[in-house]
Amino acid sequence: MKIKDNYWFNKNVLVTGVNGFIGGNLAKHLVEKGANVFGVIRNSKRDTMLYYEKLNEKITLIAGDITDKDFLSRIVSEERIQSVFHLACQVEVGIGLVNPYLTFESNIKGTYCLLEAIRQYPQTIESVIVASTDKSYGSYPREKMPYKEDYPLCPKYPYDVSKACADLIAQSYATELYNFPVVVTRFCNIFGPGQLNFSAIFPDSIRACLGYGSFTPRGNGLQIRDFIFVEDVVDLYLCIGEGLAKKPERLRGHIYNAGTNTPISVREILETVYKLTGQEHSFSNILEEMKGKETVGEIDCQYMDFEKVNQHFGWSPKHSFEGGVIKTIEWFRRYLKYKYEY
Ligand SMILES: NC(=O)c1ccc[n+]([C@@H]2O[C@H](COP(=O)([O-])OP(=O)(O)OC[C@H]3O[C@@H](n4cnc5c(N)ncnc54)[C@H](O)[C@@H]3O)[C@@H](O)[C@H]2O)c1
Repeated sequence: MKIKDNYWFNKNVLVTGVNGFIGGNLAKHLVEKGANVFGVIRNSKRDTMLYYEKLNEKITLIAGDITDKDFLSRIVSEERIQSVFHLACQVEVGIGLVNPYLTFESNIKGTYCLLEAIRQYPQTIESVIVASTDKSYGSYPREKMPYKEDYPLCPKYPYDVSKACADLIAQSYATELYNFPVVVTRFCNIFGPGQLNFSAIFPDSIRACLGYGSFTPRGNGLQIRDFIFVEDVVDLYLCIGEGLAKKPERLRGHIYNAGTNTPISVREILETVYKLTGQEHSFSNILEEMKGKETVGEIDCQYMDFEKVNQHFGWSPKHSFEGGVIKTIEWFRRYLKYKYEY
């Protein structure tokens, strides 16, 4: 049921990356709130949350590439876009390592093409949220955790560098030169329903635990991470979008970190997944496999707090880690059954 009494009702919202993990979840909530969602979609991939949950029938999908500025200009002007969530991105770290060109094109060029399209037709725009990531900071020693918004960006690997570039480009549009209502989000790792990139730890391990494949750990599992549940992230995106539209002068140009401030090792994550799927007896084999492995091309330790978003928007995560994992497992149980058994 659409909620009429809220800021998003009838807003024209552009979501790039709508056929991806976070884009699909965001579109779902925007549709529930009655927004008119316009989603940029690059390929005809159907094995996504957008199609599995039939959200494609409830939004306007527009096929094209975010590195095509004229294509984006047409959407912004013709659809009278009011709010933009820029989520389209080449996110796979592995692809970033073997194909940095593709990663730089989508992540950097895609971002300035979108911002230039908005600069050409700014008349209806109320808020622009550009998704950066904790990876933009690069590696800091453990004693410097949690990251703070004023830490300099020192990325090293291609994906991380591409995100930091896009992050700085977005900030430049919020300066007095252009006065755009732009903010940049740097969230920690996100997990939840709809994450169908099976090189990521949750989908990969849950699929194996539910009996649809095998799981091979990539490294020794000692890296420290912070994982936030996707419904909390969507809730925060909506708070930021609405807040920015209502107070553009005060909020434009801000950077927002968000995490749960609860560091967790990759080993502990896997232990939780194996336990909550009833596969704890297999976890000792995984632990054995991890011992002696080296982790290459990944940051050692990252986590974040939510102090600033709490101050500005009163936001804090609603889900416990285990609560999020339970919801995620239940979603994958239904999805994998549908995919492999019907
Ligand atoms: N998933 C996480 O843990 C996480 C954490 C922090 C930040 N982020 C950021 O959130 C955003 C969304 O991440 P996600 O996990 O949903 O990724 P995803 O890979 O699931 O979705 C990204 C979407 O962008 C599309 N895309 C890529 N290049 C494109 C192009 N040139 N033109 C049009 N579409 C293109 C892809 O087809 C895909 O559908 C990214 O900017 C990412 O850096 C993600």
